[in-house]
Amino acid sequence: MKKSVICRGIGIHKTYWRGKVEVRALQGIDIEIRQNEYISIMGSSGSGKSTLIHILGCLDTPTQGEYYLEDKRVSEYSDDELAQIRNRSIGFVFQEFNLLPRLSALENVALPLVYAGKNKTERIDRSRAILEKLGLGERIYHRPNELSGGECQRVAIARALVNNPRIIFADEPTGNLDSKTGQEIMAIFDKLVDEGNTLVMVTHDPNIAQRAWRIVRLKDGRIIDA
Ligand SMILES: Nc1ncnc2c1ncn2[C@@H]1O[C@H](COP(=O)(O)OP(=O)(O)O)[C@@H](O)[C@H]1O
Ligand SMILES: [Mg+2]
Repeated sequence: MKKSVICRGIGIHKTYWRGKVEVRALQGIDIEIRQNEYISIMGSSGSGKSTLIHILGCLDTPTQGEYYLEDKRVSEYSDDELAQIRNRSIGFVFQEFNLLPRLSALENVALPLVYAGKNKTERIDRSRAILEKLGLGERIYHRPNELSGGECQRVAIARALVNNPRIIFADEPTGNLDSKTGQEIMAIFDKLVDEGNTLVMVTHDPNIAQRAWRIVRLKDGRIIDA
């Protein structure tokens, strides 16, 4: 049986304006992502990787073309609906972790559950369970500045997972880590795919990219190989 399509982009363009200079970051991207796929997006700096993954993750919108998530056109969602989709269906992991510095690991992970309206007991139980699964059971009350880079990224992964998203996006998740810690983070992502998750990851490291089942190569905002 063919696995269901989670996202589909058709003729996606993204143009930025830097003053009067037009920057064509994406120039006609067609892409389809199915359930339980493991995709890496590669390309040199400036090729449009972050722009693409932000659009796929509904953090940004195309200037031209259509993007469908779960068979619905993303441009038809209201802002509220979009915020809900981002919170419940999408997990996003960034290179810079993007944790809130004043919150503990547990509170950072629980934040999406606050927005999802879960009660406190459920928030704590679920957040703690995911942090324990990712090997951070002893660190749940630490703040980001009391954690190593690898630990911060594991907290960020836990936060991305806490609402059981349909799809996980990661933009150079090992880019700020030494290679040994990067390998540990990659082992977590590999395991998440083994468990049935869907993962799209941006990287410019070929060793990391080849762990995925499909590599999408970008050049100057176009897919040159998929
Ligand atoms: N907010 C922005 N404003 C103007 N130009 C941007 C913006 N974001 C990205 N760009 C430009 O778009 C192109 C693609 O950027 P990006 O998607 O970040 O590439 P990558 O992640 O592959 O390095 C680059 O030329 C970049 O300078
Ligand atoms: Mg980038």
